[in-house]
Amino acid sequence: MIAPDRLRVLIAASEIYPLAKTGGLADATAALAAALAELGVEATLVMPAYQSALDQVRELASIAPLSSRAGVGPGRMLKGRMPDHELTVFLVDHPELYLDGGGLYVHADGSDRPNNPLRFAALSHAACALALGQLGQPAADIVHANDWHTGLVPLLLAQQREAGGPSSLFTVHNMAFQGLCPLDLLPDLDVHVEDEQFRAVEYFGQASFLKAGLVLADWLTTVSPRYAQEICTPEFGFGLDGVIAARADRLSGILNGIDGAVWSPENSPWLPARYSLDNLDGKARCKEALQRELGLNLDPNAPLITFVGRLTWQKMADVLLESLPLMLDAEPDRQLALLGEGDREIELGFRELAGRFPGRLAIDIGYSEAKAHRLHGGADILLHGSRFEPCGLTQMYAMKFGTIPVVRPVGGLADTVIDATQESLSSGTANGFHFDQADTEGMLEAVARAVALYRQPDSWRQLRAVAMSADFSWQGSAQRYLALYRKLRSEARRV
Ligand code: ADP
Ligand code: GLC
Repeated sequence: MIAPDRLRVLIAASEIYPLAKTGGLADATAALAAALAELGVEATLVMPAYQSALDQVRELASIAPLSSRAGVGPGRMLKGRMPDHELTVFLVDHPELYLDGGGLYVHADGSDRPNNPLRFAALSHAACALALGQLGQPAADIVHANDWHTGLVPLLLAQQREAGGPSSLFTVHNMAFQGLCPLDLLPDLDVHVEDEQFRAVEYFGQASFLKAGLVLADWLTTVSPRYAQEICTPEFGFGLDGVIAARADRLSGILNGIDGAVWSPENSPWLPARYSLDNLDGKARCKEALQRELGLNLDPNAPLITFVGRLTWQKMADVLLESLPLMLDAEPDRQLALLGEGDREIELGFRELAGRFPGRLAIDIGYSEAKAHRLHGGADILLHGSRFEPCGLTQMYAMKFGTIPVVRPVGGLADTVIDATQESLSSGTANGFHFDQADTEGMLEAVARAVALYRQPDSWRQLRAVAMSADFSWQGSAQRYLALYRKLRSEARRV
């Protein structure tokens, strides 16, 4: 029996781990849902029925037809359970939209899918129908939409709900991706807007899914407190800072957590040896195994630096590419292992460097969840330059694995990484290194500081202990979301 006052929250997203993932959005949506369930919320998830999702969801059954709209044939809403959890997940099954091979947003050759507006308008329509109780499921109290892919949800919901109906909370994971399309495409997406709603979706003569979400959601969140402040400024607002600033009274920054069941050196299914703060022998074994796996020199004392992430402008992968030869030339024992994929040109640049430092440089252009764990487990230092970083999960994963992050203090990186200065080292709060300048000089200087401290084992041990013992769990953040959901529900009931 479900308690009558139990909150029903439907989390809508384009990616949910482990069903489909290109980045942290997938980790965050899955882990938040699990943390909410622990708090007694009836949390469910909805996403597109990509092949990888169809392959993994358990007890999958069709629960309702989805009518054909906007030139897309009829589909089905499927219901099942997450592979590793009892959580319910709904899959929006439109085979012609989600089952034509390639990546989640791009074709196999890396080019953008031109029908992305249609693909994600269809997701938003289906999520709304589900939340409104139109598909035979109980209506939701809250629809929690994420990023531009579900930016139309607050708009569609506002058009259809009755008093007391579901409220919308919209989380921005990344302001850089805005879901733009020609305005005159909207009717073809079955999106009909006038007056106020037209102004909400219109962005310099185009339609912006992100802007619609930002203007029309009942509440906005971003994934770190610092990013919530940053996006009100032109530097980080990507043209929407004015829109955000106008809604500052309905905006909160809530730091993502990480899922300790997966991302901990005691639980990781992919490490060659497990370890913890109390027994770090396993970390040394992980380092040796990694050096062996990657063909790096077997040297336990060599500072091993890693980069795991998207090879994009956001992640300063261009600056890393430029800095890498200088970084390795600086000291003969430095090693660097990279795992990533992204912009084709940057990928090519790294491929070209691959043979230049035998035994000291390992480049893997690709995507591997297991290898990401082994890199965090075996490395000493994580290099995480970012021009902007809404939250960043990678630095938290690294810290949990005792790998010290070198970051630019922006967004969630500023909120989670404390620079090792004389003062923070003596107060025992330091857990990483900062660099302000988004260029080679800034990056190299910070890496040099990190490597210098690495060569002082006592100080390094202390830094590592602080990093490993930080509380990055979802508990506190899920409580903050819960408080917002409750507030929205009571506002809706007062109307
Ligand atoms: P973003 O979402 O901006 O890419 P985050 O740090 O929030 O950044 O999350 C990135 C997630 O994607 C992490 O779980 C990271 O391990 C993973 N990831 C990124 N690139 C790769 C890759 N090439 N192989 C494996 N995991 C990757
Ligand atoms: C986005 C951001 C990243 C954040 C992730 C999860 O992909 O780029 O900083 O950690 O979403 O919220």
